Order: sequence, then C-alpha cells, then structure tokens
Amino acid sequence: MTKWDFKYGKCIIKSFAVSVVAIGIVACSEKNIETPTSRDTVKNEIPKLGLVPSFWPKLNLAVKRDEVVEKQVAEILAGLTIEQKVAQMIQPEIGQISVEDMRKYGFGSYLNGGGSFPNRDKHATPKDWIKLAEAMYQASIDSSLDGSNIPTMWGTDAVHGHNNVLGATLFPHNIGLGATNNPKLIETIASITAKEVMVTGIDWVFAPTVAVVRDDRWGRTYEGYSEDPEIVKTYASSIVQGLQGTVTNDFLGDSRVISTVKHFIGDGGTVDGDDQGNNLSSEEELFKLHAQGYVGGLTAGAQSVMASFNSWQGVKSHGHKYLLTDVLKDKMGFDGFVVGDWNGHGQIKDCSNESCPQAVNAGLDVYMVPTEAWKPLYENTIRQVSNGEISLARIDDAVSRILRVKIRAGLFTKPSPKNRLLSGKTELIGSAMHRAVARQAVEESLVLLKNKNNILPLMPNQKILVTGDGADNIGKQSGGWTITWQGTGNSKADFPGGTSIYDGIAQVVGNADGNVQLSTNGEYHEKPDVAIVVFGEEPYAEGNGDIESIEYQQGNKKDLALLRSLKAQGIPVVSVFISGRPMWVNAELNASDAFVAAWLPGSEGNGIANVLFSKSDGTINQDFMGKLSYSWPMSPKQTAVNRFDENYTPLFKYGFGLNYSVNDVLADNLPEQSNMASDDKLSRRVLFERSVRKPWKLFISNEQQNTEITSSVQSLDSISLKTTDREVQEDSLMLNWHNTNKGSIHLSSQDSLNLSSLADVNGVLSLDINVHHYPSAPVLVEMSCEQECQGVVDITKTLIGSILNEWQTINIELACFKQAGTNMENILSPFKLTSSGELKLSLGNVYIQAEQKKSPVTYISCSN
Ligand code: BGC
Ligand code: BGC
Repeated sequence: MTKWDFKYGKCIIKSFAVSVVAIGIVACSEKNIETPTSRDTVKNEIPKLGLVPSFWPKLNLAVKRDEVVEKQVAEILAGLTIEQKVAQMIQPEIGQISVEDMRKYGFGSYLNGGGSFPNRDKHATPKDWIKLAEAMYQASIDSSLDGSNIPTMWGTDAVHGHNNVLGATLFPHNIGLGATNNPKLIETIASITAKEVMVTGIDWVFAPTVAVVRDDRWGRTYEGYSEDPEIVKTYASSIVQGLQGTVTNDFLGDSRVISTVKHFIGDGGTVDGDDQGNNLSSEEELFKLHAQGYVGGLTAGAQSVMASFNSWQGVKSHGHKYLLTDVLKDKMGFDGFVVGDWNGHGQIKDCSNESCPQAVNAGLDVYMVPTEAWKPLYENTIRQVSNGEISLARIDDAVSRILRVKIRAGLFTKPSPKNRLLSGKTELIGSAMHRAVARQAVEESLVLLKNKNNILPLMPNQKILVTGDGADNIGKQSGGWTITWQGTGNSKADFPGGTSIYDGIAQVVGNADGNVQLSTNGEYHEKPDVAIVVFGEEPYAEGNGDIESIEYQQGNKKDLALLRSLKAQGIPVVSVFISGRPMWVNAELNASDAFVAAWLPGSEGNGIANVLFSKSDGTINQDFMGKLSYSWPMSPKQTAVNRFDENYTPLFKYGFGLNYSVNDVLADNLPEQSNMASDDKLSRRVLFERSVRKPWKLFISNEQQNTEITSSVQSLDSISLKTTDREVQEDSLMLNWHNTNKGSIHLSSQDSLNLSSLADVNGVLSLDINVHHYPSAPVLVEMSCEQECQGVVDITKTLIGSILNEWQTINIELACFKQAGTNMENILSPFKLTSSGELKLSLGNVYIQAEQKKSPVTYISCSN
C-alpha cells in the first residue's frame, strides 16, 4: 500500500464513523453539555510563559483592550448555544453553501477562494458581489432558524488589488512592491485596495503575506516582499494601516477592511522552497527572519492571522499549540483571531478535513473549510465539545476573539453591506486615480540590471519593434491570483481599463511620431532601430509555481533564440523580463543590451514605457528607482542566495539596481553553462504533478471534439473532468465517463520528446490512479508519436482488479508501447486514456521515469 492508500482509507473509515456518531449529537444544546475541562485545567495545559524564549517580544499593540468592548463580547457570548458558537468558528466557501445554509447555521464568516465568483460567473459585476454579500449578511442576522443574529463577514484574497473582480486596479505583486522600498506608497496601495473591496460589500482581506522567502524555487516567491525581514517588517505595518486605518485615523471605518497577516509561520523558509513543506529553522531564526512581518503587522493593529500550511520542525502550524497559543497569543499578546488556511487543519496528524479537534486545541479560532467538509466538521466539532475533546473554555476564547474583532470592526453598527458608504460606487473600481497609483508602483518597481552603453532611455521618435509573448499580454504580466486562482485562462478582454506593456509603448512612441510594430515572434515589416522583447514566466500560484530549477526555460530556450536572432540582425535588444522570482538568465543577459526585471506589474503595463523612454528632447522622463529585494543568482544552483549569507556571491546583490546616472559595467560573457543535469539524461520526466507540466497541454475529447483544458471543470457528452484534492488542493483530476460514447483525455505538445534512453533502461509510464467506479468497457492507454504512429496498452484488467477508492501507482513499461508500435524517439502525446463505457477515477501524478523497483506499485510488463 502506498502512503496515499493509507491516508485515504483512514479518512473514509473516519468520516463514516463520525457521521454515525454525529446524528444524535446535532440537537444538543449548551445546557445539556457537561464541561469536563474547566478553564483552569486548560490554563494548566499551557506551558509556563517562562518557557517561551525572551527574544519573542510582548508587542505593544496599537489597538488596546477596551472594557466596553469586552463587556459586549461577554454579553453576546453568554446568549449563544454551543451550535451557534461553533458556527462562528466555521468558514465555508461561497460555492459550497447557500444563503439558506447561512440562515440555518449562522456562520461567523465565509470566503470566496481564488477564481470563485458569485453565481460562479467570472463576469460577475460589483452588483452581483454586493447582492450576495447583502443576502448572506441578512441571512446571518436572521435568527428565525437556529442561527444566531451575529453579522457574518466575508473574506477574500485581495492580494494585489481586488484581484477577483473584473476591472479592478491590479497592483504589482509583492515582489515588485518590495523593489520600490516605499512604505508610504504601499500604505496608499492598501487603502485603495480596501476601497475597491468595500465597493463590493466585502469586509475582510486575506493580506498581507509577510513570507520572508529564502528559496526562490517556491511558487509563492512573488507573494513575498523580500528575502530579508527588513522591508517585510515595515511593509507589514504600512499595509495593515492602509487596509484597516489606524486608531487615530478611521480605524476599520467605512472605507477600510479587516486585514490578515499570513501565513503563520515560516512559509517562506521551507526546505527546497517546497510549498506547504517543512521549515527547519531554529526558534531564534524563526523569530528573526520569519516572524518580523507579524511584529510589524500585529503592532500596527492587524486583527487576524492566518495559520500556515507549512510545518515547523515537522509539526504542522495549524496544530502547533506552542506557536499559535504560547507564542502568538500569550507571549506576543495577539488578541484577534487565528483563521486556518484552506482545509489546512485536515493536514494535521490524525486529522481530516471533517474532524480536527487538535487544531482548535492548538489555538486555531476559525476553520477555513471551503469544501463540502464544512458540515461534518461543524457537527464533529459540536460533538467534540460535548465529549470534552475540546473544552468549552477554548471555544469561548475562540468565539470571544471573533466577536471582539467584529465589534472593533463595527459590524454590529455598520449598515448592511449594500447600504455602506462605498457600496456600489463602481466608479471607484479601477478609477483613474487608483490606476495612477498602480502605475507609479510599476514605475518604481522596475529594476534595471543591465544598460550597456547607456542604450536606455530610448528616444521615442524611433522605429521600435515590440515583441515576445509578454508584449501584449495583461494576463501574463499580472501573474497568479488574477481573476482566476492560478492566473491562467485570462484574455485581454478580462482586463477592461488595463494596459499591456505594448499599449504603453505604442502611446509614448505614437505621441512622439515614432513608429511601433508589434509581433510576438520577432518578425517585422520594416527593420527597427531597436527591439523591446517582453518575455518570462507564465502565470502560476501556490503549488503549481514550485519549480525544480531556477534556470529560465531549462531545456527549451525559445526566448533566448529570439533575442539572439534579433542581435544577429544587428538590432539592439532591450529585454523586459516578467517573473515571479529572480531566475538564472545569464544567457539572456548576454544576448541583451539592456535588461529590466519587471516582476509581475499587474494591470498598468503602461508604467513601463514611462521609464524606458525619454522625452522627445532626450531628457529623462522617469528614472529607474527599483532595487532588488531578492538577490539575483549567478548560477542555477543559487536557488537560495540571500543577503547576509556566509559565502554571498550572487550575480546582483540585494539592493542592486542601476539608474540613468550610473554607467553599467556588466560584460556580455557571463557563464552560460548550467552544469545541471542535461535534459536528455533526466531519469524522470514529470508530465503531471499537481498540474500539467510544460511543454504538455491537456485535452479532453470525444469522437467529434478535442478541447484544451483551461479551467478546473470541463465536460463533453461522454466524459467530464474536474480538479480534486488528494494531498493538497486541486492536485488531481477526477474523470468520469458516463455513457457508451468514446471519451478521452490526453497530453500533447508541439515539440516531440525523445524517450529512447528511458525506454532502454526499462523505463515506465507511471500513473497514480484511484478507481471510484469500475470500468464497464475496455480502458486504453496510448502513447503516440510523429507521423501517426502509436502504441496502445489495455489496462482494463488492472483497473477491475484494484480496490475501489484507494490510490495506487500503475507502472506500464515503455516496452509495451514500443512493442505495440510507438517510436520512442519522437513522442508527441505521451499519455492518452480512453474508454467507451462507464468509469470513474481520479488521476494524480503522471511520470515517465526509469524503472523504480522499490516503490510498491502495480506493474504492467511486456519485456518478457
Ligand atoms: C481556490 C483558492 C485556494 C486554492 C487552494 C482554489 O480552488 O480558488 O482560493 O487558495 O484552491 O487550493
Ligand atoms: C492560500 C491562502 C489563501 C486561501 C484562500 C490558500 O490556499 O494559501 O493564501 O488566502 O487559500 O483562498
């Protein structure tokens, strides 16, 4: 059995047992419940404060305890049943609950996840958002059913502007803001974000992220301001003040939202930059590096903290009593509430999404439970209070914290969402004034890494070629957490009011009677005086953005080829690099005359032209101001190169950034040899791991249609697909064949792959599969190659022989495909799964790899 089998099997038994027990419990009221653990016993469980090392400070919180508020908290609390208390601690997602559920249960809060909109409509208008906010609010204060009459609150990921709403101002992602090193600007950005959020009736924002990012392979690198706590600490304070206001200026007033400092703690310091991984820092380092954003943010008055998915020294933060209770609450004195992250409680040892008293006992106050698990979790938590697994004192503490924040935020006195001051003022969303601030941030965030012979600034009255696949691509320049969760699947039409980098250049050059040509591949009609090439990473968010190497376009240097071809034609090249992290780009630097790190600028791409071009008379328009808040690697091995390292030899140091008054001395001969494993010697090719890996694309097809998968749900008449959670969110695909028509999914790419070396060493196609419904017709796996050659392997028997609802790895020898006709030298589609009957299964990782005998797997062999 693999570890997945174990985990899954256990969950099933658990949730089954739990649902049986839960039936008789739901009706319990507070009076019937004995509280075996008194307040005192709970206190005794907490290690003496003296055990927390003295470097953890007692914070001087901006928002002081107010006895009037505390009295109100106690009064409200006294009137609540256990069910109503637990409901305050449950945070479901808008796609999983109805307004009627809100009325019935009275949840303390709810959220919309990234890429989740009212009515599941990407084009939902601010009106639609307000309508839902109003309905949820009214339902929450309606106590005609069992729910309480406590106003609920809506939390959203407005992490670079109100990024789930079409037309909102999208600011540069945090990595770019770090490069501006301008706390005042950051405060303004946060206050604008709060306003745009308030227009849609939402109360609460899951920002700022204060991760101090140590290994740039982490896919959330761009959500951090810096690799060093210096900027993070100051910014955390500025952002919180911008979002929430301050005690002397509009604290949680009509144009402010509640903020969340996240993810507590150590998310930026996991081993190898592994998302949700393990942080091995010493406690002192945890404080000095990873806690500084909390020192800044909480001191400034942040009212909530989000627990992190990562572990510290092997223990998940969501279940870490020492960190959540002893350090954060008791020692630092934080008196707001701790919210969990996306079913993060389910990852604690011996917990599931449906049941986790450990989290509350450790100090979690609100479970973020965005799946259908909310209901069993609610029922189980009530039961755990009644049987003493969770003390009533702990529940009362959690609910008091939630109520305290609600009172401080004025939720009991503010009008309902649709009647609030900014509600419905749609002219504020993406207003010219807000965009001007975003544009200023873009200008200040650009870091000039190379400027040979002072080629920049460019005169605007020239012939300019704008090229590269990022040139006219607002989706790409905005990165993840942009309308959709991963930032993928957006087109220019999804950014009304926004400008691409090309748009800005066209305007500046047009105004100066210059000439602009746009092409993505470097072609032109008239030979240009200079080419601006905009290229870089495709959008990604958590999980999917983790990479194995920080070498840019490892194994497929398409953009380098474009730069070189322009150079070869004698055209000077200005590179504008879009990325969520520093990357090893020595070859691209060598091939460029000027090189600008533009990070992920967001919706105001026109800020870039302002800096690249001078005025028509040659005087500087706007100089470069950005300085690296992340060290830039000299070699692909420098994935974790950080300020104050012992042997600190990056290519560009923390704080580096040229401007127009210095002469650049960077030579064109930086070493280009990566010394990493060359591609054809790789012993494993990852085709699918949490998401489809480049260069592959995933398609769903039947006899008539073949559609590329671009969203988390897609279906044809015979087959449907949706993403599902196995270990982390949306890391697998749930596939359902529902009739006797043919249905397939397959991976394919334009460039073929040579697998002959792997085939020669008993390589396998390795599939993680979990069968939910046995096949009623043959199931075929196909591998096809150029010139319509293919080999097919029938895996029906294997599937029928497997245990339902258990993960297993099925390894199919490449030899099987070879024998069946596949030419291993030019594979175009390494994996296709087809059936013409009923079948339901989840598909996890898909690899092509050298045979690994040690792992317990089902093996399909053809070599003998
Ligand atoms: C949600 C995101 C969330 C992610 C975590 C997505 O479906 O939309 O908000 O962070 O899942 O898995
Ligand atoms: C992310 C959080 C986010 C939450 C809600 C999680 O997956 O880690 O940063 O706030 O989803 O979307």
